Amino acid sequence: MSQELNEIFLKDYQAPRYLIESTDMHFELHEQDTLVRTRMQVTANVDGGAGAAFELFGHEDVELCRIAINDQVLSEKDYQRQGEKLIVKSVPASFLCETLTRIQPQDNTALEGLYKSDGMFCTQCEAEGFRRITFYPDRPDVMSVFRTTVEADKALYPVLLSNGNPVEQGESDDGRHWITWEDPFPKPAYLFALVAGDLEYIEDSYPTMSDRDVKLLIYGEAKDLDKLEYAMASLKNAMRWDEEVYGREYDLDIYMIVAVDFFNMGAMENKGLNIFNTSCVLAHPKTTTDAGFQRVEGVVAHEYFHNWSGNRVTCRDWFQLSLKEGFTVFRDAEFSADMNSRTVKRVEDVALLRTAQFAEDAGPMAHPIRPASFIEISNFYTLTIYEKGAEVVRMIHTLLGEEQFRAGSDLYFERHDGQAVTTDDFVAAMEDASGRDLSQFRLWYSQAGTPELKFSDEYDPQAHRYVLHVQQSCPASPGQATKEPMHIPLAMGLLDQQGNDLTLVNGETTLVLDVTEAEQSFTFENIQSRPVPSLLRGFSAPVKSHYPYQRDELVFLMANDSDGFSRWDAAQKLAVDIMQSLIHDHQNGVALTLDPRLVDAFRAILEDSTLDKAMVAKVLTLPSEAYLSELATEIDVDAIHHVRNFVRKELAQGLESILLSVYEACELAGEYSPDAASIARRSLRNLCLSYLMATEEARYLALAEEQYVNADNMTDQSAALSMVAHSRFKQAAHKLLERFYKQWQDEALVVNQWFAIQATNPEPGTLADVEALMQHPAFDMKNPNKLRALLGGFCGQNAINFHMADGSGYRFLGDRILELNKQNPQVASRMLTPLTRWKKYGEARQQQMKAQLQRILDSDGLSKDVYEVVSKSLA
Ligand code: ARG
Ligand code: ZN
Repeated sequence: MSQELNEIFLKDYQAPRYLIESTDMHFELHEQDTLVRTRMQVTANVDGGAGAAFELFGHEDVELCRIAINDQVLSEKDYQRQGEKLIVKSVPASFLCETLTRIQPQDNTALEGLYKSDGMFCTQCEAEGFRRITFYPDRPDVMSVFRTTVEADKALYPVLLSNGNPVEQGESDDGRHWITWEDPFPKPAYLFALVAGDLEYIEDSYPTMSDRDVKLLIYGEAKDLDKLEYAMASLKNAMRWDEEVYGREYDLDIYMIVAVDFFNMGAMENKGLNIFNTSCVLAHPKTTTDAGFQRVEGVVAHEYFHNWSGNRVTCRDWFQLSLKEGFTVFRDAEFSADMNSRTVKRVEDVALLRTAQFAEDAGPMAHPIRPASFIEISNFYTLTIYEKGAEVVRMIHTLLGEEQFRAGSDLYFERHDGQAVTTDDFVAAMEDASGRDLSQFRLWYSQAGTPELKFSDEYDPQAHRYVLHVQQSCPASPGQATKEPMHIPLAMGLLDQQGNDLTLVNGETTLVLDVTEAEQSFTFENIQSRPVPSLLRGFSAPVKSHYPYQRDELVFLMANDSDGFSRWDAAQKLAVDIMQSLIHDHQNGVALTLDPRLVDAFRAILEDSTLDKAMVAKVLTLPSEAYLSELATEIDVDAIHHVRNFVRKELAQGLESILLSVYEACELAGEYSPDAASIARRSLRNLCLSYLMATEEARYLALAEEQYVNADNMTDQSAALSMVAHSRFKQAAHKLLERFYKQWQDEALVVNQWFAIQATNPEPGTLADVEALMQHPAFDMKNPNKLRALLGGFCGQNAINFHMADGSGYRFLGDRILELNKQNPQVASRMLTPLTRWKKYGEARQQQMKAQLQRILDSDGLSKDVYEVVSKSLA
C-alpha cells in the first residue's frame, strides 16, 4: 500500500524555509460554497536556507481557485502538487502570497477544518485541520499574527467570532454583515478559530493580577443558556489558580468559549476563542452528573491553561505534542486536586492510567510520549501522550520539589515565550533552574512501554537493618526490542508493627529513592523490628510494582498507611489477588468461596464514620473488569465477569445491613451542590445501593426505583436507572428506560447517557438492543458524542457482550468502522481500539478479531487514520 510511504519521522525534522509575518483572511460564508481569501506576508527564514521552494499544505477537498505571488497569478507550471503539498518552485526572499479557495463546510463530516454543527459554522484546526480551509504552511513552528474578516448572512449568523479582539464591523444591504478580528499574538495555524451562528451567551469579567479587566463570554444555543454558569465559575477559578500557582496572567482583553454539539474530541484551546464539545461545558444539576460537573471544571481549566502551556509556548512539531498536553494535563490535575479532594483525584487518574494507558502501552499502537514516527498525527492524541505525559511531568515535580519545579516552569515560559519548542527544551529549563541532572530521566520521552519494578527485601534483627532490593525492567514494544534502565522516583515509607510510619532520614517518613539501575538495593539502619514497606506512595511513577505482599499485610496497609492513595492501592491489590485466585478456581471447575478477609476489611471501612466518604467509596469499588483484563496474561472474559459478579454478590450479602445503614446515613437534604463533600456522599450512597442491587432481592429494586423517583439531580437519577437497567428485572428496566427517555428526549446530552446505559448492559441480548438503537430517531451516526455513547459504550465498556463467542460483536464493529472510515476517519480509528487488543485473548477470539481487522485492511479507500491503526495491529 502506498500509504506506508507516508510515515513521517522525527529524525527528518527540518526548520521551515519560510516564515509568515502576518496572515489576513476573509471568509465569505454561504450555504453552498464558502470562499476563503488568504494573504500571507512571507519572508525567508534565516536558518532555513535562501532560494528554497515555498511549501504549503492543502487538503484534496479544498479547491484552489487562485494563487498569486506579489500580485503575479501563478499557473500550474509554477508550482507542483505532491499529495497535500503545494510547492512553489521559485519565490523571492520576501513576498506576498495570496490564495482564494472554495470549500463546502456543510458537507464536512470529518469535523476537521471548517464545518457545520447544528447549523452553525465552527472550526477544529488541531492538528492539521487548517489545510482543509486554505493552502498554508500548516505546521506549528510557523507562527503568524492573524487578521480575520468573517462575512455571512446576518439573520442566520448574527454572531461572528474569531481569535483576538473585534476591530471593525459593517453590513451590506443584501442582509449580510461582517466583523474583522485581530489577534496580536503570533500563533500557529492550528490555533486559528472561527465561529458563525445564532448563539446566545453569558458574560462576566475577571480582574487579572495586574488589574486588567478581561471580558469572559460563554456562547451556546439559546436552550442551553441555563447550563453555562458552572463553566464560567470554573474559568474564573482556573484564571486565579494559574496566577497563584504558576504566576501566569491572561493576555488578551477577551476570552470566549463556544459550545458545539458535533465535536471529535473534548475541547480546543484556540487563542482567545476556545471551542468546546457541549459534553465538556454544559452543566446543570438536573441534566449533568457529578462526574460531568468535574469534567467541565477540569476541561475548562485545561483549555485555559493551554494559553501559556501550548499557545504562548507551543510545539515545534507534532512529535512534541506531549510538551503541551502532558504539561497541561498535569496542571489541570493539580488544579482539580486543589478545588476538590486531592486523594480522590489521584485515585481516579491512576485508575485510568493503569487500566487504559497501560493497556495502550502493551498493545500494537504503543509509543513513547514523544513518538519517533507516525502516519496520521490524529492517532496520537492518546492516553500515552496526555496521561503518561502528565505523569512524566509529575515525576519531574517530585524529583525537583515544589519550589524548584516552579523555578523551572518560570524559566521555561520566560526563555521560550513566543517560540515553538521541544520536550527537550522543557527538560533543559527544569535542569537549568534546579541544577538537577535529568539526562537519564529523558529516557521517559523516548522509550515506550510500562516499566516494572520487582521488589524483595530482608530484615536482619541483630543488626536492625532492613534492605529493599529492586529490579527494573521494561517489556519490548513495537520497534523497541530492548530498553535501558530508567530514572524512577520511588516514594516509599516503612511501617512498624503498630502501623506507625518509621522516621527514615531527616525526620522524613516518606523518602523518594532514585531507582536508576537494573538492580539496586537500599539499606535502612536502626530499624527495630521487621517493617512493612509502603511502596510507590502517591503513585510516584507510572510503573507496575510487584512486592510479594501477604493478604494480611495488605489489610494492614489498608488500615494504617499514612498515604491515602496507598491505602486505596492496598485495597485494590488485595481485591485483585483474591479475584485472580478465584478466576483460576473458576477456570479449573473449583467451587468459589470468598476470602472472608475482604468482607472483614470492607466492613471495617464501612463502620468507620471518620473516613472521607469519597475515599470509602473508592476503596469499596472493586477493580474493574478492564483492570483485571489489563493484568491478565490471557484475558478470560467470561471468568473475569463471572468472578467479579460473584465477589460483589458475596460482599453484598455479607455486608447487607451495614450497606443499608450507610445508604440511609448518606442521604443529603437541601439543594444539589457539586462540592466535594456532597459528591462524596452521593458516590458512597450510590455504591451502597449498587451492592444491595447485587443481591438481586426485589426489595432493593424497590429502593432503587424509589431513589429514581425522588432524585432531584442527574447523579442519583442516572445511577438508579443504570442499576435497574443492568439488572435481571427486565420489566422494571424497560419501564424506567422509557420513562427516562420521555422525560429527557429534548436534552441531547441526557439522551446520550440513555444510549450509554443501554449499550453497557451486561445482560445477554444487548447487541440486538444496540442495533435497534442505531435506528432510533435520536441517534445520529454523524454525531461523535452519540457514537461514543452507543458504539463506544458497547465495544469499549461491555466486554462480556462485545466478546461474545460467536464473534457477532466483532462483526458489528467491523461493519461500523467501514461505514465511518470515510465519514469521520478520526472517530473511526478511535472506535477500532478494542479490536487492536486481539493478542491478549484466547485463540478462537483472536482469529475472529483478526478476521475483522483483515477485512478492514483489505477494503478500498481506507483513511490514513484507520489504515495506520489496522496495519500496525496486524503487523
Ligand atoms: N488540544 C486539544 C486539547 O486540549 C485537543 C484537540 C485535538 N483535536 C483533534 N481533532 N485532534 O487537548
Ligand atoms: Zn490539551
